[in-house]
Amino acid sequence: MAERRHFDGVLIVGAGLAGLSAALAAAPTRALVLTGAPLAKGCSSAWAQGGMAAALGVDDLPALHAVDTVQAGAGLVDPVMAALLAAEGPDAVRRLAALGAPFDRTGDGDFAQSLEAAHSRARVARVKGDQAGRGIMDAVVRSVLSAGHVEVRTDAVLRGLLQQPDGGIAGVVVQMDGRLVEIIGSATILATGGIGGLYEVTTTPAELQGDGLALAALAGARIGDPEFVQFHPTAIDIGRDPAPLATEALRGEGAKLINRAGEAFMDAYHPDAELAPRDVVARAIHAERAAGRGAFLDARTAVGAHFPEAFPAVFAACLSGGVDPRREPIPVVPACHYHMGGIVTDAEGATTLPGLFAAGECASTGVHGANRLASNSLVEAAVFGARAGRAAATWTAAPGKVLHRILLNPLAEPLLQDLRRAMSTNAGVLRDAAGLLELLALIDRMELNQGPCGALIAARLVAACALARQESRGGHYRSDYPGQVQPARTLITLKGGVMESLAA
Ligand code: SIN
Repeated sequence: MAERRHFDGVLIVGAGLAGLSAALAAAPTRALVLTGAPLAKGCSSAWAQGGMAAALGVDDLPALHAVDTVQAGAGLVDPVMAALLAAEGPDAVRRLAALGAPFDRTGDGDFAQSLEAAHSRARVARVKGDQAGRGIMDAVVRSVLSAGHVEVRTDAVLRGLLQQPDGGIAGVVVQMDGRLVEIIGSATILATGGIGGLYEVTTTPAELQGDGLALAALAGARIGDPEFVQFHPTAIDIGRDPAPLATEALRGEGAKLINRAGEAFMDAYHPDAELAPRDVVARAIHAERAAGRGAFLDARTAVGAHFPEAFPAVFAACLSGGVDPRREPIPVVPACHYHMGGIVTDAEGATTLPGLFAAGECASTGVHGANRLASNSLVEAAVFGARAGRAAATWTAAPGKVLHRILLNPLAEPLLQDLRRAMSTNAGVLRDAAGLLELLALIDRMELNQGPCGALIAARLVAACALARQESRGGHYRSDYPGQVQPARTLITLKGGVMESLAA
């Protein structure tokens, strides 16, 4: 019998920018943040190098940011949600700056703004080149720790949800102090991040394996677009797991992609060469590597001696792998970077289950469609995290004593590594029916022995929906269906563990 505790306020699982933004916004309602890692560690937000996209410049407008967001999403972005994100983005950046996030400034004290691929304006607010995630999270963590209404447990690993007979979510089950503990709250927000840990090569913390997504799906929440995974073209290939990122801003500065023979190859793949859409660049690098020619990011001329001050995180990562990017090209490999799909929410972060909210990468607000616009994820986490926190704070839970526990098993380590390899091979940058069927058969075999594991359920959502989408769009590329024919979101629920499609 698990111990049961009651918390008079909102439960928030996850301590990235979305979870902590929700916690701050819940005030004066109390918030309990549950995470299995020290604050500003185990979350992708703290690792972000890019920055926050927001229309802060005099030549920019939220409407232009919204248009770029819709355009990048390859036909599947919800324009209303994109407009909301773009409208609230500038205030989100100002709010974080007021908390102490040290955004780069112009001589006049305005936010300095950088240009990234697929943005029609320079609108990315950065922190010391590639330090956005760390700078923003340090400021937010300080605010959370001094906020009287927020309590934080950094030793609580999500293992389950508590569900009422009407489907409503009453709380969570966490592994804490070496045992399972049920915690009942007034509302629950999942801010559990993405699925990078399902892939052999990832730029995110490897412990992010889609547990929140899997639990919400098992509880019957609507899931959107799980097949859409974004692969960052230039993770640094120095054998580290997770792989450090070489920010896209390097290509913005003029760094070239070359193969082992020293030939710049991007012109052969896209007229925009190095600044082509992220999925195009990822496939080009994949092709060069698969052909045995290798792929390297050459920043010797574009950045050169300025590397240590201009891109300190990338510089340190390269040196840790014995590569000096001032003098030699950086070996690169595409890596799982961001999950566009997730738990479907409305503009207030509410899922289709009463009492359950979701925010950040595990959520599907509809702003990313098939391909997230660069530097839209931190801004989404801040905007929709705060919205979810405010909405959850005013949620009144229906009273009820009968609770069903939905529990996940951990996946045994050697099997997890097999799954990660299979996901990269068969549900990675290139996909086809044969590979996806092979992957699904592997997941079936593993599930037979291991029972319900978050990693397997999340992997199945990706693989099954990638198999069903017989076209190529955004981050999802089917080599057996290269055209575009299906301009509708994937919306599904699990009924008794079986997937059911819903009309988009
Ligand atoms: C990057 O800096 O290349 C990543 C930015 C992002 O994923 O938004």
